[in-house]
Amino acid sequence: MRVLALETSCDETSASVVEGMGDTVVLRSLVILSQDIHRVFGGVVPEIASRAHLTAVVPVVRRALQDAECTLDDIDTIAVTHAPGLVGALLVGVSYAKGLALGAGKRLLGVHHMEGHLFATSLESPDAVPPFTALLVSGGHTLLLDVPAWGTYRLLGATRDDAAGEAFDKVAKLLGLPYPGGRPIERLAATGDPSRFRFTRPMLRRDQQPGDADYFDVSFSGLKTAVLHAVRGSADLAADAPHIARAFQDALVDTLVEKTYRAARAHARTRVVLGGGVSCNRALVQAMQRRLGDLEAQVFAPSTRLATDNAAMIARAALYHAERGAASDWTLDAHAAMPLPTHRGAA
Ligand code: KG4
Ligand code: ZN
Repeated sequence: MRVLALETSCDETSASVVEGMGDTVVLRSLVILSQDIHRVFGGVVPEIASRAHLTAVVPVVRRALQDAECTLDDIDTIAVTHAPGLVGALLVGVSYAKGLALGAGKRLLGVHHMEGHLFATSLESPDAVPPFTALLVSGGHTLLLDVPAWGTYRLLGATRDDAAGEAFDKVAKLLGLPYPGGRPIERLAATGDPSRFRFTRPMLRRDQQPGDADYFDVSFSGLKTAVLHAVRGSADLAADAPHIARAFQDALVDTLVEKTYRAARAHARTRVVLGGGVSCNRALVQAMQRRLGDLEAQVFAPSTRLATDNAAMIARAALYHAERGAASDWTLDAHAAMPLPTHRGAA
C-alpha cells in the first residue's frame, strides 16, 4: 500500500510518500518547507502561516511525488493532518487533500497530528514499535503515554500549563535568543556551568505515589518564572545567560526523564520512544538513555527531520489505519484541539 500525506498544522508545509505493509515501511519521499518568516515576529502568526501553506502546497506535493518517482495513479490513500493545530493552517491541507482525493478517486484519511509523532521514530528504527512508553514533547504538547499496541494509547500524564517546547521558546525570549528557542538554548546551555544556578525540579517530589494525580504530570510555568527572577536578578546577563540556560535545561530534562522512567517502570516497558521537536535535544536524549539504562530499557529518538513536524509521520500513521480499512468521509473537518483517541489509564 502507498500513502501520500500532507502536514500543514503549524509552520511547516510538508508532503511525503510512504509504502509498505505492517511494520515494514519504506519512506519514498519527504519534502518539508519551513516558513522562516515567523522568526521576524518571534512566534507563528496564524494568518501568515495559512497563506504560506496555500502558496506552497501544490509545489510541495508535486515534488514529493516526483522524489518518490510516482504519480497519483500509484497512490492508494491521501492522508492529511486534520487536528490539532492552527485551524486556518489545517484547513489548507484538509481542503487540498479532499480535492486531490475526490479528483483522483482515492481514499481520504484524516490523521491526528500527535499520533503521527508517535509513529515517526519507527520510520528510522524498526524496533521503535509497541509495546513502548512514549514521551511526546513539542511546541504545543507534552504527553506521556503507554502504548501497548499501535492504535491503543493510554494517556498517563501531560503538562498542566506550558508544553516543553513552549517553555524553551519562552525562556529563549527572556534570554534574548531567537525563535524557535529550543536549539539556541541547547547550544548556549552546552557552554554553561551547571553549578552556578539551580532551579527546583517541577512536580518532582520523592514522596509522590503512582496513584497521585501529579505522579506522571508535568508543569513548566513555575520554572519559567524562576528563570525570569534569575534574569531580573542578574547584574551581568551576558555572562550569566549560559549558566541560566544550563540550569533551566537541566531542570526540565531531569523532570521529563524521571516521569518517563516512572511510566516505563509502572508498565514494565523495555522500550521508550521519544517524539516532537524537543526530542532533537541531545541533553534530553542522553539523560534519558542513562536513566532508562537502569531498567535496561532502550530509548529511541528520531532524527531532527522526523522529530519536528513532517508529513512522513502522518503517512506512516495513515498506513496503519488504511490497512485496517479506515477512511474519512467528505465531511472531514479541521479542529484546533482534539484529544488523542485514548483513555487516561491507571498507573
Ligand atoms: O514538534 P514541533 O516541530 O512542532 C510542534 O508540533 O509544536 O516542535 C517545535 C518545538 C519548538 O518549541 C522548539 O523550540 C522545540 O520544538 N525544539 C527544541 C529543540 N529543537 C526544537 N527544544 C529543545 N531542544 C532542541 N534542540
Ligand atoms: Zn508537532
